[in-house]
Amino acid sequence: MDQVAAMILAAGKGTRMKSAVSKMLHPLLGLPMLSYPLRALRKLEIGRQVVVIGSSGQEVIDGFSDWSGVSFAWQREQKGTADAAAMALTELEDFSGIILIVCGDVPLLRAETLHELLLRHKQTQAVVSVLSAVLPDGGSYGRLVLDSAGELIRIVEARDASPVELEVCRINSGIYCVEADFLRQALAEIGCDNAQGEYYLTDMVAEASQSGRKVVFLDVADPDEIMGINDREQLSNAEMLLAVRIRRQWQSAGVTIRFPEQVTIETDVSIGMDTTIEKGVSLKGKTVIGAGCYIGEGAILQDVYLGDRVRVLPYSVLEHAVVEADAQVGPFAHLRPGSLLREKAKIGNFVEVKKAEIGIGSKASHLSYIGDATVGNGVNIGAGTITCNYDGFKKHRTIIEDGVFVGSDSQFVAPVRIGKNALVGAGSTVTKNVPENAVVTSRSRQTIYPGRGMAARTAAGKD
Ligand code: UD1
Ligand code: CA
Repeated sequence: MDQVAAMILAAGKGTRMKSAVSKMLHPLLGLPMLSYPLRALRKLEIGRQVVVIGSSGQEVIDGFSDWSGVSFAWQREQKGTADAAAMALTELEDFSGIILIVCGDVPLLRAETLHELLLRHKQTQAVVSVLSAVLPDGGSYGRLVLDSAGELIRIVEARDASPVELEVCRINSGIYCVEADFLRQALAEIGCDNAQGEYYLTDMVAEASQSGRKVVFLDVADPDEIMGINDREQLSNAEMLLAVRIRRQWQSAGVTIRFPEQVTIETDVSIGMDTTIEKGVSLKGKTVIGAGCYIGEGAILQDVYLGDRVRVLPYSVLEHAVVEADAQVGPFAHLRPGSLLREKAKIGNFVEVKKAEIGIGSKASHLSYIGDATVGNGVNIGAGTITCNYDGFKKHRTIIEDGVFVGSDSQFVAPVRIGKNALVGAGSTVTKNVPENAVVTSRSRQTIYPGRGMAARTAAGKD
């Protein structure tokens, strides 16, 4: 939408967050607060988005400098929303279309709602359109004042409102569509003669109405959408509402979520059809889950890719890992960054994998550490196997070729290579390369002392 630009007011101090970090960077379901309105605007294909920043603005710039179409305008002193809009206009000097004005702290605002506001603005040929909401109690929000014909004539801030005006339950969301040329004019007129001594952007409504221009409002269907975040309680409430929205989206896409209020699915996760997610699961970051998967109770997946029909059994933790189709992980397994499980591989309980590839159909079913390793196809790794990858200075790789059988309680002192189809005897410490199809053992030979067992000892003890 070329003829539409956006301003995102975000220079407020966010004092009530009681935080050393800018309010705009506080995360909700894995993404910083400001990214929500920016994404909604991006969804509408609004190419130019000016973010007004204040005291902790540099942090915001650092966090969002790679967003295309986003620029920043400083507001050094918080003199009110009209002043903030004026700062944003300095980045839009050449622009004369429609400006969508939103706040940076309304993460629940949906693109569809902004789209409706834009449509209404265009259809009515208004100069200002206000997104409003009808609440049981208007609280500290600005109130919409209508004339006898039901036309919006001004907005009054709660602090400046008369008792009668305070009774009004239609409130201002702080989200508007406005013609750029009119906004320029109006901002020049707005003063600061009010309870807070601030320049109120809301005064543009009276400016328009008094000069006979068209002003309209649109009630948002779900007032939660315009909820602004000022403190940590509102932050957690908004995050919960977002979580409900995301879970419903996946449920309607064919995902079974058991006890959904106990499941966390972050914003950028994607899940295939007929996957089942048990209670207590957290799916984070850019996790992608295939179709027909099963994610067991208490599993945590951060930036993980799962192919189709993968089973992740309870209480497994997977981070930056790739698991191909029909593989199985857990229960109580840990896939650390750089783990790659090929099709039908199986990583069982109390197994940790890091920077390692586990080949097709290969198994490490119990109590092992496989790090900095390449494991071929059809390999069986016995319980208690450890790759000794670290010599105190550097990490080294272990290579286990196709078809190898590793007996339980073996150690591979890397760098080391085990040739195809080799057999490693249980309890071996392998320090040198093993050729193809060889048997290797490196344990001391068994010695038998007949008749000297417990029965003999007990008898001796009785003397
Ligand atoms: C504003 C509206 C009010 C509306 C409410 C909705 C005005 C005068 N009032 O009130 O009618 O009901 O929003 O939440 O506009 N900001 C700046 N620079 C400033 C001041 C504010 O960038 O100098 C930003 C804030 O970061 C915030 C937004 O503007 O994102 C709104 O500011 P805030 O102080 O929360 O507005 P309210 O006084 O609550
Ligand atoms: Ca204020």
